[in-house]
Amino acid sequence: MGGSLNHKSMQNIRVGVLGCGYWGPKLIRNFYEIPGSDLRLVCDLRPERLEHIQNLYGVQVTQNYQELLESDVAAIAIATPVSTHYELAMAALEAGKDILVEKPLAANARQAREMVELAEQRGCILMAGHTFEYNPAVEYLRNLIAQGELGTVYYVNATRVNLGIFQKDINVLWDLAPHDISILLYLLNMTPLSVSARGRAYVQRGIQDVAFVTLDFPNNIMADIRVSWLDPCKIRRITVVGSRKMVVYDDVEPTEKIKIYDKGVEVPPYSDTLEEFHLSYRYGDITTPAISTEEPLKIECKHFLECVRTRQTPRSDGRSGLRVVSILEAAEHSLDNGGQQEEVR
Ligand SMILES: NC(=O)c1ccc[n+]([C@@H]2O[C@H](COP(=O)([O-])OP(=O)(O)OC[C@H]3O[C@@H](n4cnc5c(N)ncnc54)[C@H](O)[C@@H]3O)[C@@H](O)[C@H]2O)c1
Repeated sequence: MGGSLNHKSMQNIRVGVLGCGYWGPKLIRNFYEIPGSDLRLVCDLRPERLEHIQNLYGVQVTQNYQELLESDVAAIAIATPVSTHYELAMAALEAGKDILVEKPLAANARQAREMVELAEQRGCILMAGHTFEYNPAVEYLRNLIAQGELGTVYYVNATRVNLGIFQKDINVLWDLAPHDISILLYLLNMTPLSVSARGRAYVQRGIQDVAFVTLDFPNNIMADIRVSWLDPCKIRRITVVGSRKMVVYDDVEPTEKIKIYDKGVEVPPYSDTLEEFHLSYRYGDITTPAISTEEPLKIECKHFLECVRTRQTPRSDGRSGLRVVSILEAAEHSLDNGGQQEEVR
């Protein structure tokens, strides 16, 4: 734990956390608990949030992020609103800090690219907080696809909806779709060729609360993402349909997150007449593999510390953060233009 003897050893990474609103405290808890991490300083503009964190962990706090930059922390986790990521991350990189920046990496691709370039120039670790890439269920699904268990992947459907939380500075696309986009890129191990998106702002003027996104990947793979802050049910589900098997990953399920359906359709290789032609449907077993229940954010934070320690490139590095932001930017452009198809650069 935070003040244990283990924490004081030579290898401990001195960590600072910037932003303790909704998400920051989850990072703080993890960096407080993980052995090998030495949580030194927490920064937020709001004194009441700092007081809350100080009461919980007895950690040093500050309202001035310059203090964090001038401190001896080696690594900073940034969990402030998206519009502030670029400025704060660039300042941290200038100060030679390794950084973990919450998703989405930046508010646009130009900013994300500059962050990647500066991190590379300075030899600093830049990691994007794509939490789902550290989710054991996503990892399991990725292995199934890579090992050819599903056959040829046909299409993927991702739904991430519930009532709220309405954001003031970004629309639902930038708030929720980074998760599904990063999952898709990770699962399929490829980048989409094009994207189109449609959305509506029903509650807050000018801020879309519902969006439907379609992505075209190489190999004729299609994916669609449905994100909404305006839905009666909390759904966090991804379906992958392959030629051999189909998988449903339901993140709301407490334990049985993945179900593998040995279902499919076979087309007869040859038939002379319409009467002879008939599809054969296969209804096989449904299996539910045992998946580790370790908290994905804990795995992510451990990985960040490991990268800081060993200088390895993070799984969700700055470039993967940039890819996600570029796709979001193309989707936003499509959203503003009635759903027209946009090339992903
Ligand atoms: N990985 C995930 O699953 C996940 C989940 C939720 C949010 N997030 C991300 O976390 C980030 C923060 O989201 P949130 O919901 O916690 O936002 P929030 O508004 O609840 O909290 C942000 C905090 O940052 C502070 N802040 C803003 N500017 C600051 C500055 N210059 N110096 C110090 N503190 C500053 C604010 O006072 C606030 O307390 C966003 O990028 C969001 O997308 C990630």
